Amino acid sequence: MRRFDGKVCLVTGAAAGIGRATAIRLSEEGATVLAADINEAGVRETAELLRSRGARCESLRFDAMDEESCRSLVAGTVEHFGQLDVLCNIAGACRADHFLDLKLSDWERMFRINVGSVMVLCQAAIPHLKKTRGNIVTISSASAIAGAAYWSAYGASKAAVASLMRALAVEFSGDGVRANAICPGGVNTGLASTYSIPDGIDPALVQRLFPLCEAAEPGEIAAAVAYIASTEARYVNGVSFGIDGGQLL
Ligand SMILES: NC(=O)c1ccc[n+]([C@@H]2O[C@H](COP(=O)([O-])OP(=O)(O)OC[C@H]3O[C@@H](n4cnc5c(N)ncnc54)[C@H](O)[C@@H]3O)[C@@H](O)[C@H]2O)c1
Repeated sequence: MRRFDGKVCLVTGAAAGIGRATAIRLSEEGATVLAADINEAGVRETAELLRSRGARCESLRFDAMDEESCRSLVAGTVEHFGQLDVLCNIAGACRADHFLDLKLSDWERMFRINVGSVMVLCQAAIPHLKKTRGNIVTISSASAIAGAAYWSAYGASKAAVASLMRALAVEFSGDGVRANAICPGGVNTGLASTYSIPDGIDPALVQRLFPLCEAAEPGEIAAAVAYIASTEARYVNGVSFGIDGGQLL
């Protein structure tokens, strides 16, 4: 399939995991990709990999914590490639806490990375997406829907971005700009190694968060991103698309 011939896709979180798999998948389908991440070496490696396969791809370092960095990323993409068709918000961070120990500063940091950056990126991207009748795909999480004990800050931030996608889907429906969320369950990436689980958690409360089958591979989430971002999904708007192995049944 070449669903992204002539399309320019901005993929955040593209240094690793789901973001890198998405950059690969979209480029395999013909997209020109701007791969962005705070991990400069990782995202450069992604871009080199794509170029070695004949794709058109550039990388940019950005920090989701920084508003100007997010705005510059969108501006840089359009400056370099002349248009923007798809914004994939994949960069994100996770944390786990006993709720009673959670600091407001840590809660705010989670929201800054997982929600604030998505708000700013969408705000900067939408004027360009209006021109191409493009769309936004944001990675939320099954923990946005499940009662995610110990992941309260993360789950709440992921619920917020899913809600944001619904708001944008309605607000920009008249402009032909779609906005959707994908809610993965467990995915086999390095995310779990980036934060620690506090001592003394009740395993029975966490057990219910794990899917009935093994974790998904990043490419399986990327396949859903590619479908939702493509014109085949013209009628898919404002959804929170679960990919969780039946975890939430
Ligand atoms: N792995 C899972 O089980 C799972 C499940 C549901 C949702 N998600 C979500 O999927 C997305 C991708 O995660 P992943 O599993 O591929 O993990 P990952 O750790 O492989 O990828 C996350 C990427 O985000 C980047 N990032 C982190 N902070 C950043 C910042 N301040 N600025 C710019 N980039 C930053 C990291 O460098 C990394 O490349 C995240 O939003 C995550 O919350 C993951």
